[in-house]
Amino acid sequence: MFLLVILSCFLFSFVYTLSDHPILIVVSYDAFRYNFFNKNANPYMLKLRQHGTYAKYMNNVFPTKTFPNHHSIATGLYPESHGVIGNSYYDPVKKQLVKFGYEMFHYDDSIVPIWRLNEMAGRTRYSGSMMWPGGQFPYQGKNITHYQEFNPAIRWHKRIDTVISWLEDPEKPANLVMVYFEEPDTHGHAFGPESKTVFNLLQLLDNVTLYLEQQLELKGLTEKVDVIHLSDHGMTSVCPPHFIDIKKYLQPDTYKLAGSTPGLHIIPNEAYESEIYNLLTNASEIEGHFKVYSKYEIPSRWRFKNNRRVPPIFLLADEGYGFQDLAANAKEYAKKYNFTVTDKSQFGVHGYDNLIPDMRPFFMARGPSIKINHEVSPFDTVDLFSLFCAVLKLKCTTNDGSFENVEDILLPETGNNLLPIIVVIVGAVLLVLLLILCAAVVTLLIIKRQQNITTTAALNKRFPQNFSHSNIEAKHLLEPEDA
Ligand SMILES: *[C@@H]1O[C@H](CO)[C@@H](O)[C@H](O)[C@H]1NC(C)=O
Ligand SMILES: *[C@@H]1O[C@H](CO)[C@@H](O)[C@H](O)[C@H]1NC(C)=O
Ligand SMILES: *[C@@H]1O[C@H](CO)[C@@H](O)[C@H](O)[C@H]1NC(C)=O
Ligand SMILES: *[C@@H]1O[C@H](CO)[C@@H](O)[C@H](O)[C@H]1NC(C)=O
Repeated sequence: MFLLVILSCFLFSFVYTLSDHPILIVVSYDAFRYNFFNKNANPYMLKLRQHGTYAKYMNNVFPTKTFPNHHSIATGLYPESHGVIGNSYYDPVKKQLVKFGYEMFHYDDSIVPIWRLNEMAGRTRYSGSMMWPGGQFPYQGKNITHYQEFNPAIRWHKRIDTVISWLEDPEKPANLVMVYFEEPDTHGHAFGPESKTVFNLLQLLDNVTLYLEQQLELKGLTEKVDVIHLSDHGMTSVCPPHFIDIKKYLQPDTYKLAGSTPGLHIIPNEAYESEIYNLLTNASEIEGHFKVYSKYEIPSRWRFKNNRRVPPIFLLADEGYGFQDLAANAKEYAKKYNFTVTDKSQFGVHGYDNLIPDMRPFFMARGPSIKINHEVSPFDTVDLFSLFCAVLKLKCTTNDGSFENVEDILLPETGNNLLPIIVVIVGAVLLVLLLILCAAVVTLLIIKRQQNITTTAALNKRFPQNFSHSNIEAKHLLEPEDA
């Protein structure tokens, strides 16, 4: 019985596939503002927060939009370095408007996102991207092993099932998976961050978080997998009286427009640059509530302006304000979700200055590498790259973040490294003991058998008539002499 248990344990550990490398899951909840936890829609996430380390918020990158921030999380670079400077932009070299796609994420193909770095660091390291913005494209000419491009029709629980299946892939078990959820962003834009709709979605997300943890528990992975939960940015409310139409100040056909509320990109046609700049500066004085920057006036602290994709003129609305594109969106939302737009309707907007509290994302983590019941000071989104590298035990490439800012999230190294070694040593010792025991038992049996044969033979020789068939009696006879 004991033998069977030991044997099945050994067999099980060979059949069970899981990466030998540190395993990390990063989950992003689009537009989950740092203080959404105050809404009490996420009891499970709050509980989970106590089982790990969290920061009140992170300092994200400007513009506080989805693609720039996801790529800063993945590369540790500011937008002016990775080139994803907005959710759309005008490329002055190719003379075309660029939206989400391969092109957007390939400003410079020497940039290595964390999922590629992981695979480059070892032949048995495999990465996965579950809808992470930019995760489905090849970098340096190579796709990662597991990826699913964005598809909102795939249910959230199904996404988690797929992620778990990647971790357990018999041939290529993933040790890094990036996961993306498009809410509460999608409905937040249409109904505003303070809506009941957003509240309900936060509850659903709380359940998906619970589901992920339950699945890990079920597979015995809770103590093997580090999980980081975070968001890219927050969101604030804007109502129709705060929509500013800047188009009415400009001559049509004298410029191109890219970007979106609250950051508009104005690309003046040749010879119109100063005229348009002056018209917009006037408009800003008349309307108020937005700023006009020539490319060179854009604040350096945003780490945004030094990139050819950044337009000659950049408009940024003040918090709580937006431009005419928002009016067009509002109409679409009203049609799609069957409501009437009034002056009091609230729409969700992000993309403002990253110093504005409503733009802040959240951070929490738990797992074998993470401190328990611990809070760290807010750090920068670009620091996450160093954190991922440390958890995955990768040599970090050059980036804009700093490991010192996130070091306090991690448990001291030793325990982590020793545990698997101890398990192996104890296992080996047990196996050796088992073998010795087996050998001893077999030897004993052989000796005993040999003794019996010898005894019977000897007795048979001495008393052939009486003892030829009775070992037991023979033994009994010999006993007094032995004792
Ligand atoms: C990457 O995957 C896409 C399909 O998702 C495929 O079209 C493309 O050829 C692949 N690229 C490389 C370099 O493997
Ligand atoms: C979350 O899941 C629990 C059961 O796990 C269920 O009782 C609850 O209704 C769910 N909440 C939502 C908002 O779906
Ligand atoms: C700006 O507005 C002032 C009046 O407020 C006007 O005199 C001036 O011509 C305007 N400039 C431009 C470039 O339209
Ligand atoms: C849209 O909402 C109105 C009430 O606000 C309702 O009467 C109508 O049936 C709804 N239409 C659809 C297609 O749901």
